[in-house]
Amino acid sequence: MTRAKIVGTGAYAPERVMTNAELETMVSTSDEWIVQRSGIRERRIVAPGETTSDLAVRAARQALERANVTPGDIEFLVLGTTSADMQFPSTANFVSHKLGCGRIGSVDIWAACSGSIYSLSIGAQYIQTGKYRRVLTVGAEALSRITDFTDRSTCVLLADAAGAAVLEPSADGSGVIDTDLYSDARYADLLYMSAGGAKTPASHETVDARLHFVKMKGSELFKVAVRMFVESTMTLLERHGFKARDVDLFIPHQANLRIIEAAAKRVDLPMERVFINIDRYGNTGAASIYVAMEEAAASGRLRRGDLVLLAAFGGGVTWGAALIRW
Ligand code: ACO
Repeated sequence: MTRAKIVGTGAYAPERVMTNAELETMVSTSDEWIVQRSGIRERRIVAPGETTSDLAVRAARQALERANVTPGDIEFLVLGTTSADMQFPSTANFVSHKLGCGRIGSVDIWAACSGSIYSLSIGAQYIQTGKYRRVLTVGAEALSRITDFTDRSTCVLLADAAGAAVLEPSADGSGVIDTDLYSDARYADLLYMSAGGAKTPASHETVDARLHFVKMKGSELFKVAVRMFVESTMTLLERHGFKARDVDLFIPHQANLRIIEAAAKRVDLPMERVFINIDRYGNTGAASIYVAMEEAAASGRLRRGDLVLLAAFGGGVTWGAALIRW
């Protein structure tokens, strides 16, 4: 089967930087606590009026330019997000229009922070089956819009950014080797936003109770996340006859430096081969792996022929992994 090859990556983060020092003035926290417990030093926050689709468009334009293609060349657009512009129409729909892709199919994937792996995997299937020859995959978030800046357990972690990748059929055997996707709603109460949907429509009461913001049981989620990271990456590597030592670069979802370190240790991957940028961006949900991929590619840490392992987890819980020959 023809593999889907990433022929261009792009990323964009809003201009406004929010430091840990600024958060110290908003909630009872400290730079020391945030750095020690999460590895985050600063994050980017959208400007008033700036939307998830605006960030996505900036990232997508860069990916298209690097892939040397125009919006009109794109045949399908798939976008992972947890902070869509609106309930509907989809954010992908707006991004397609703003880019000028024409009347192509476009869809949002609601898989929380795993929206990166989910969107990449779904985009890759269309290339592999031969249905489309050029797919744009995107992860974009304005998580600050669904974050309670009076809740110190979440507001120090979540942030805004977007990343994108252009997929084409591979001519040289490189590309996405395989992906695995999982979900398990037994853990739904570890990370969720309860109001605003059909179950609990928005009302004065839901807003007063702050139910339109993310709620999280961080320490329980931490343990589940490490287990999911390890299980999914080991399963994928073993299926293709690889060991951890064969991986040139591991690009995990940037949720927490300690989760990444714990998972890397159990998988037996030295941290020199793990890409980290959480210190500058925080947890940008479905965008984080795309942003990290762009930075790794642009800085020369990703070279053609490298074996690249991606893994993400998020609310749901959802999780998954991808193996790529770059
Ligand atoms: N500043 C200072 N103290 C804090 C803060 C803060 N920002 N937040 C919590 N604390 C306190 C707690 O109240 C608690 O105090 P107590 O001992 O007096 O009760 C203490 O710090 C320890 O809290 P824990 O939650 O046990 O701390 P932990 O070491 O687990 O770190 C953290 C918390 C960073 C949230 C961690 O559990 C984590 O990262 N979990 C995973 C979260 C995650 O990845 N979520 C995103 C998933 S992806 C997605 O879909 C968006």
